[in-house]
Amino acid sequence: MDNKIDAIKNILKKYGQEHLEEYYQKLDEEKRQLLLNQIEKIDFELINNLYNNTKKETKQNQDEITPIEYLDKYKLYDDYKYYENIGEKAIREGKLAVVTMAGGQGTRLGHNGPKGTYDIGLESHKSLFELLGDYIKEQEKKYNVTIPWFIMTSKENDKQTQNFFEKNKYFGFQKGKNLFFFIQGELPMIDTEGKILIGEDGLIKEAADGHGGIYESLVKSGMTKKMQEMGIKWVFIGGVDNCLVKMVDPVLMGIAIDKGVTVACKSVVKANPHEKVGVFCKRNGKPNVIEYSEITEEMAEATDSDGELLYGESHILCNLFSIDAIERMGANPLPYHVAYKKAKYIDKNGKLVEPDSPNAYKFEAFLFDAFGEVDEMAVLRVKREEEFAPVKNADSAGVDCPKTARELYKKFYKLD
Ligand code: UTP
Repeated sequence: MDNKIDAIKNILKKYGQEHLEEYYQKLDEEKRQLLLNQIEKIDFELINNLYNNTKKETKQNQDEITPIEYLDKYKLYDDYKYYENIGEKAIREGKLAVVTMAGGQGTRLGHNGPKGTYDIGLESHKSLFELLGDYIKEQEKKYNVTIPWFIMTSKENDKQTQNFFEKNKYFGFQKGKNLFFFIQGELPMIDTEGKILIGEDGLIKEAADGHGGIYESLVKSGMTKKMQEMGIKWVFIGGVDNCLVKMVDPVLMGIAIDKGVTVACKSVVKANPHEKVGVFCKRNGKPNVIEYSEITEEMAEATDSDGELLYGESHILCNLFSIDAIERMGANPLPYHVAYKKAKYIDKNGKLVEPDSPNAYKFEAFLFDAFGEVDEMAVLRVKREEEFAPVKNADSAGVDCPKTARELYKKFYKLD
């Protein structure tokens, strides 16, 4: 093993990460091996570049941004039934699978455990996972078909997530048959000097690489292959934290099939022109999402001849892909965005530090950065009150929190 550490010593030196070797020397054999395994997998060049990027001023963006066309689900008139029939046929033929992205850290909510295990306070005390599972079962009954459920976890929360499902008898699903778990990729967290952090477990502190990691991990974990073997053609990918997410939508599927596009996304219209959400657009002619911080006031307020906002279609992480599109999007690396976060770590004296303000950089890829891989996608505007009840923050924030999600859920399902 000493040969091994000798071999990577130079790399650590080259990238200014010698503290990892010093730390290694203090560990027992078992921990040493684990640490070495981690070190071997790290792309130090990438981490170095990402750190250097945190020091650069963000360049003025030269991209050409233009509005994207969309359809309004409730203004399709006769076409509604037409698309619905096409989509329903494909669903009944077993061509749809659903994926729930549940690898996030859920820092804003502050729940002790994976976000999917959170009880939003309904009388039933069902967790987010159970609410999503209930919806899938209801749709399976409706269309008389199996709709396999794939759940993306992260190294940080995989064990807890799977234990939770096991404890709850997989909510009636059968692991390995119609329920599958896979783990997303991760990247080390670094401090403001670019040094890789050691976490509470005495190993390198790694964090999930963002929801943009979905494509690569679906392919690498063999899930897309499994889907193909099951005869799946379409995959709905959504977040774990929207308790009204409608993963099975024949109209959305019918539009994708009829228009011959490989990606179809749902949007809800912005609550007001300055709502802080990312919206669908075209970037240099290709589909994309533009962040609220990138949009000028003039663009945010611009309307078309019907008075509709030109950049009003919010991205709500409700997207349908063909398997081909997933493979294409997973083939090229996505850019990483940096987040400055609070992260507990072990300092050089071996002491656990629990910072009360942000101290570390985390790098995340965003799912929509891959949209430009396709020339065209369909965007379907749906109703916020039917499809969007996110649980992002603690109740004290007053928005996108358990209280607001609970109210929306109860209203939609007429639980009062
Ligand atoms: P968010 O971007 O809202 O992040 O994720 P989050 O982790 O839930 O919460 P914060 O930002 O730490 O407070 C949107 C969806 O994408 C998933 C989340 O689990 C959620 O369903 N996600 C996010 C992943 O699966 N992996 C990631 O690396 C990031």
